[in-house]
Amino acid sequence: MDRWRGRVALVTGASVGIGASVVEKLVEHGMTVVGCARNVAKIEANAEKLKKCAGKLVPVKCDLRREEEILAMFELIKKEYGGVDVCINNAGCAVSPDSILSGSTDSWRTQLEVNVLALCICSRESVKQMREKNADDGQIVNLSSMSGHRIPPFKGGTTHFYSSTKFAVNAITEATRRELRELKTHIRVAMICPGLVRTEFQGRLLGDMAKGEELYASQEQILEADDIASLVVTILQTPPHVQIHDILVRPTAQVY
Ligand SMILES: NC(=O)c1ccc[n+]([C@@H]2O[C@H](COP(=O)([O-])OP(=O)(O)OC[C@H]3O[C@@H](n4cnc5c(N)ncnc54)[C@H](OP(=O)(O)O)[C@@H]3O)[C@@H](O)[C@H]2O)c1
Repeated sequence: MDRWRGRVALVTGASVGIGASVVEKLVEHGMTVVGCARNVAKIEANAEKLKKCAGKLVPVKCDLRREEEILAMFELIKKEYGGVDVCINNAGCAVSPDSILSGSTDSWRTQLEVNVLALCICSRESVKQMREKNADDGQIVNLSSMSGHRIPPFKGGTTHFYSSTKFAVNAITEATRRELRELKTHIRVAMICPGLVRTEFQGRLLGDMAKGEELYASQEQILEADDIASLVVTILQTPPHVQIHDILVRPTAQVY
């Protein structure tokens, strides 16, 4: 990770879960990490905890459903830190009711805005800044899901639209890779597709954090946010000529 020391990463969805773990790892490795989310107080508390690390965490409040807030954040990154070298498109949500035949348009719209549109906006703006600063080894990492590879086997379509947004992320990742090659840059894009990870994700989906915890407790095994953060480090650590495209990762005991 030596070549990333002192360089600039953006991590979306940095307030809790996988994003908070990724931030911690990158700050420990000496990166300047801009972490964004709506609940900026949680990121500020983490920044305080990470104060003694080699790098630093810069909290930014940003609602990813609002393009003007995303663009203002990129302006700030350019002005204060010279632009991003690494973009971790981590923020994501599943919102119920989510099935195709009885879901609500509002829940679909929120997921489309956060999981797909914001990810594309952040990738576009990141590559623009990487090219401006000649960061030809820049890296984008998209957090997709096992649900971007198969429709989850639960009855009632509880995550059907969510799953559809993650299928879109998989297509966007490959499309981004091809566009980067057309531009003759060596900027890389990778994605990580996890199975079940213990975070706030299920609690938010179910509208009840205790129910989310119950679901996690009912599993024989579950991934931790730190397992996924380690995979982000693995992607960043590979030599510049090695392009990891997709990491599919489940708890060993997870069947589907
Ligand atoms: N946990 C799993 O089992 C699992 C499995 C496969 C894939 N994933 C994917 O992994 C990624 C991280 O999920 P997680 O499990 O860490 O979920 P989480 O604990 O629910 O955290 C979600 C993060 O996204 C942020 N976010 C949501 N809506 C936002 C918005 N409108 N604007 C800005 N930030 C927003 C949240 O911050 P605020 O609420 O503070 O804004 C939070 O930091 C997601 O893309 C998810 O789809 C998770």
